[in-house]
Amino acid sequence: MSKSSIDIESVLKEARVFEPPKEFAAQAHIGSLEEYERLYRQSVDEPEAFWAEQAETLHWFRKWDRVLDWDPPHAKWFAGGQINVSDNCLDRHLTTHRKNKAAIIWEGEPGDQRVLTYDMLHAEVCRCANTLKALGVAQGDRVIVYMPMVPELAITLLACARIGATHSVVFGGFSAQALEDRINDCEAKLVVTADGGWRRGKEVALKPQVDAALEKCSSVDHCLVLKRTGSDLPMVEGRDVWWHDVVPAASADCPAEPLDSEHPLYILYTSGTTGKPKGIVHSTAGYLLGASLSAKYVFDLKDEDTYWCTADIGWVTGHSYIVYGILANGATTVMYEGAPNHPGPDRFWDIVERYRVNIFYTAPTAIRAFIKWGNEWPEKHDLSSLRLLGSVGEPINPEAWMWYRSVIGGDRCPIVDTWWQTETGSIMITPLPGAIPTTPGTATRPFFGVVAEVVDKDGNAEPPEKGGFLVLRKPWPSMLRNIWGDPERYEKQYWSDYPGSYFTGDGARQDAAGNFWIMGRVDDVINVSGHRLGTMEIESALVSHPRVAEAAVVGRPDDLKGQAISAFVTLEGSAAPPPNFKDELRAHVTKEIGAIAKPDDIRFTDALPKTRSGKIMRRLLKELASSGEVKGDTTTLEDFSVIAQLKESEE
Ligand code: WTA
Repeated sequence: MSKSSIDIESVLKEARVFEPPKEFAAQAHIGSLEEYERLYRQSVDEPEAFWAEQAETLHWFRKWDRVLDWDPPHAKWFAGGQINVSDNCLDRHLTTHRKNKAAIIWEGEPGDQRVLTYDMLHAEVCRCANTLKALGVAQGDRVIVYMPMVPELAITLLACARIGATHSVVFGGFSAQALEDRINDCEAKLVVTADGGWRRGKEVALKPQVDAALEKCSSVDHCLVLKRTGSDLPMVEGRDVWWHDVVPAASADCPAEPLDSEHPLYILYTSGTTGKPKGIVHSTAGYLLGASLSAKYVFDLKDEDTYWCTADIGWVTGHSYIVYGILANGATTVMYEGAPNHPGPDRFWDIVERYRVNIFYTAPTAIRAFIKWGNEWPEKHDLSSLRLLGSVGEPINPEAWMWYRSVIGGDRCPIVDTWWQTETGSIMITPLPGAIPTTPGTATRPFFGVVAEVVDKDGNAEPPEKGGFLVLRKPWPSMLRNIWGDPERYEKQYWSDYPGSYFTGDGARQDAAGNFWIMGRVDDVINVSGHRLGTMEIESALVSHPRVAEAAVVGRPDDLKGQAISAFVTLEGSAAPPPNFKDELRAHVTKEIGAIAKPDDIRFTDALPKTRSGKIMRRLLKELASSGEVKGDTTTLEDFSVIAQLKESEE
């Protein structure tokens, strides 16, 4: 990561404060700022005592010898302990009132439904685990999972965890090439897939991609194939096995394997907006503890809650907050297969209403799409079951935050804007909804055990209100342990800029009250006449104009100013903008931030180029703004036609 960048000026001003609602605080796990601060102090002053106490909430086969071995940048948490994630997510609930409680409530895009109780899920996981063993998968082997959002995806992960196979989920939207690279990088032995899944009423075929990838993957012995869409498939004799031929016939008795605390639970490749994907390695005990503790406190999870995270399990959000963190708490997790706008733009609100969802966790990119589609869609539904809303994946612009709060949350639900990364494994900076006052645009305070700081390029703490680089000073249980097969890159990428500290790659500032304002990836900073501006703040200003739905801002070289500001803007509704609308937008940004942030170029477009996890690929826009061409790597781009369309958009 480049350290050449100097200060990042923060220009976003936002002063609305929302205290935790009294009724919410009264019932919350953590119901006051004082209680948060007391626990937080304990977690950073005496981390080992704090984490030891928290770890007692898990079920161990053998208790740990030491809480933390820290040999920077390598951490071992709970060394000497033996534990199993699948056992903690399933078995320990079976002797409680949760045995017949819904673990997963699933809905397919065509409208099919399934409810799996903890007892049923446990049996399915055991059958799947026995099948994996029969297919030659042993402890330590890697399994690639390339599936639609169906219960069998969660079942496969829990089955791998049960026998100590390290899973690596590849998002179903990735191509054969991306799949091949990942299979070869981790030398997987088995691929679990399906014929396909449903998205916007069409089949997304998966098995044909696997077939293409496996032509060049010598490590794979077998491919286990779930029938979901029923489309015709060639099966390769001796290699491919139908799920329905083997899993239901397998025994439902499969004791969970005691595994070392540091056993690699999974590898997840970060799709990244830059560079070659990295196989982020997560551990067993520390990861489980981080995911389950954060799920409990950040989402204020209670036994009677119906919780829904709309992410795909192909991303870390789905790993930690659809599957592991949620099931470890014995909660009910909703899982939905398809698109948010199929058959209509109100599909999510229909699901919230029908299942009476209480906690809803989604991404700013989705929220901005909902705003664009119009208020009439959520307004058609009874959303009164909701009690808490969450956001993750990008900085949420205040405009979207306020809309989320009023239109979806009925001005009643607290919003948790949760900052974290694939690498951190669990939420790092976030409000606790019953304790921490929120303000649109800030992820507020560090979670337990997280020592976050905003520093300059030499690693010195920046004063309040000054933008800089976000680092984490202390190891935490769910931190990544390595980059698969590339320990040098692990050290260089994360630990070399600020020795002993983890560099997040994000810019941020901390306000006088201690809240963290995440400004996005430091690569996304623009330098205009010596002022470094976070693109996110200019984007927020643009989006606060009532006619703007979404905006992406990038820098392009400019002789005079160093960099000029180029804005790509999508508008609400379909009507063409009025003739002087660009001037109006420039005036609007000037009013919101100041003339320094006024975009030099503005282009209107129907869509912005995004990664499949919904992050805007500013790198491509930067190329386009600078040279009018896009030559860089576009393999993580969701929709190629967007680029062609953008090229045609007049400047
Ligand atoms: C960004 C997703 C601002 C950030 C869990 C981070 C955020 C990257 C937020 C990680 C947030 C995530 N506010 N920015 N609440 N959450 N980010 O690995 O730039 O897909 O470094 O993990 O997303 O993305 P990843």
